Amino acid sequence: MEKKILFPCVGGFVHGGDYNPDQWLDRLDILEEDVKLMKKAGVNCVTLGVFSWAAYEPEEGDFHFEWMEQIIENLFQNGIYTILSTPSGARPAWLDAKYLEAMRVDNKGLRNRHGGRHNHCMTSPRFRDKVAVIDRKLAEHLGRHPGVIMYHISNELGGECYCPQCVQKFQKYLAEKYDYDIDRLNMEWWTSFWSHHYNTFGEIEPPFANGETTIMGLNMEWKRFTTFNMNDFLQYEIEVLHSVTPQIPVTTNFMSLFGGLDYRKMAPGLDVVSWDNYPPFHNDGETFGETMLGSAFNHAVMRSLKRDTPFMMMESTPSLVNWHSINKLKRPGVHKLSCLQAVACGSDSVQYFQWRKGRGSYEQFHGAVVDHLGTDDTRVFREVAQVGELLQKIAPVAGTVVKSRAALLFDWDNRWAIWDVKALGQKTKKYEETCRDIWKVFLRLGVDMDVVGSDEDLSRYDVVVAPMLYLLQPETAGNLKAFVNRGGQLLATYFTGYVNDAQLCYLGGFPGDGLWELFGVISEEIDALYPSDRNGILLEDGSRWEVMDCAEILRVQDAKVLGTYTDDFYQGSAALTCKNHGKGNAYYVAARTEASQMSALFEKMLADAGIPVKKLPEGVEYHVRSGEEGNYEFYLNCTTEPVELSGVNGYDMVTDAPVSEKLTLPEYGAAVIRL
Ligand code: GAL
Repeated sequence: MEKKILFPCVGGFVHGGDYNPDQWLDRLDILEEDVKLMKKAGVNCVTLGVFSWAAYEPEEGDFHFEWMEQIIENLFQNGIYTILSTPSGARPAWLDAKYLEAMRVDNKGLRNRHGGRHNHCMTSPRFRDKVAVIDRKLAEHLGRHPGVIMYHISNELGGECYCPQCVQKFQKYLAEKYDYDIDRLNMEWWTSFWSHHYNTFGEIEPPFANGETTIMGLNMEWKRFTTFNMNDFLQYEIEVLHSVTPQIPVTTNFMSLFGGLDYRKMAPGLDVVSWDNYPPFHNDGETFGETMLGSAFNHAVMRSLKRDTPFMMMESTPSLVNWHSINKLKRPGVHKLSCLQAVACGSDSVQYFQWRKGRGSYEQFHGAVVDHLGTDDTRVFREVAQVGELLQKIAPVAGTVVKSRAALLFDWDNRWAIWDVKALGQKTKKYEETCRDIWKVFLRLGVDMDVVGSDEDLSRYDVVVAPMLYLLQPETAGNLKAFVNRGGQLLATYFTGYVNDAQLCYLGGFPGDGLWELFGVISEEIDALYPSDRNGILLEDGSRWEVMDCAEILRVQDAKVLGTYTDDFYQGSAALTCKNHGKGNAYYVAARTEASQMSALFEKMLADAGIPVKKLPEGVEYHVRSGEEGNYEFYLNCTTEPVELSGVNGYDMVTDAPVSEKLTLPEYGAAVIRL
């Protein structure tokens, strides 16, 4: 497999982060010191200008890029490259004062006032004009500098605007989507219910909090439109930059499972996927290892947006954040471990927010590489410098990718539909948790699943798990059937295939769109359990899975029953089934259990697919990156005790020592084994 080195000039991994010199323009001594310290920390790239609009254009039409040019040049002379951001993440006060329409309108129809960031109307032509002007000038003045290796569009795009211009655009979007056929929209949105009929597209309002929120089709289309409009804005910025400097790749920083945007629709327009990783380390609700697994899942979601290419961890904190409910320090050693985890999961960068702490305002106590103390003689700085050294050591890993033969299906449309549906227990739907928990069990078995959309090509996978696939995209049923028919191992759960893309229920049996034939079962009823209710599933081998939250009552058509309910009026009826299709198997788990209880079943699916399982001690993560030269195995000890692993052979790039059979990792220790 050919390597996809993101930035050959950097010679391996990107190490750096957000740098905000515009906050220090009156302190040349500090700016000079920054470069010296960056070199000491092994920083080879910084992200500049994320929030620099007011410094570039202090008054409308009065542009100043010289200061930034000097900074980029000075960094470049010192071997440090630049990821240049467009400044559209926050607006200067003059812009809002003059162009009121740039400020968002909320879901009660109230226009925001100036302030904060990330709160612009993405439709406003005036705001877009201003963005185009600054972006073009930015590209002209700075984009051609040899130190600039990438554009970072805006910052953490998100949010919704309900202003009249957005409403109009939404109506146009709907008219085009429904071929100007309002009857079709009425039919798909089931508007005969509660007299919701629309005569024209012009009558449709978005789901204002004090307006229409009870049409599932409307709510879904509003979310889809918000993604469409945000993507349109993103592409608008990209086009302006590309018109001047087409050769520079682009990214924008995503926020893992952020619910407001369907990232799968946005990723194709980017050259590289990047995201911001801020796990709540050392919290009191879960073990450290669990928190790490949560991050690993997020990395997998992000990595799977562009399979076969490394992604970037655009932001992370070197020490602590200032916006968690409790802002706890990362314990010694955790920084290195969590950075290596990002790399293990496919990132070709370790980047921080931010390089130096700002003296004032909202983020003055957010962690940074350089503290207010201003020296390299701090624990945090030393740990960052160690990461810099380590990344150089493992530089050959850059450009390799995580290749998985197993996938978890996880959909944004399905998430939105499940959030919105009036069914099950309102607080116990837990779609994301269910997906994450299952994914974690596979990782504990040493299998780093991709996380892909339900309409994606499954031809590279041999095991697919599709939890709670309530909404079926038009292609999904066909894809799943084809997957099983060519010998794939498929597992679906309760709450699968209830509605189509428009959220109309399937008639004639769930899972719909013909999927009940694939599984050989029809779900006749679904029971929601109170938090203290429990049921069980008794398996053929006598073991018992505990059931909570929801349980379907199945009508078995032609599947084998592998487990039955232990309690309640449906005691003895099928709860776990399998229908065989040649080498392929379609498993159906009708009730929610702890994901870990299904581990043996997952192992069987993996074994049938010929995917090796790795038994790892509790709290140890295993990931593999592959390239043309072979594999790199990552072992991460996410516990506070040393662990011993057996059967590990190769060369540990972390300790620079061969490993034969036995590998000992200290607390929070890690190894990168070249095979
Ligand atoms: C991110 C944001 C950064 C910074 C950081 C603090 O969400 O992109 O600008 O605010 O959080 O953790």
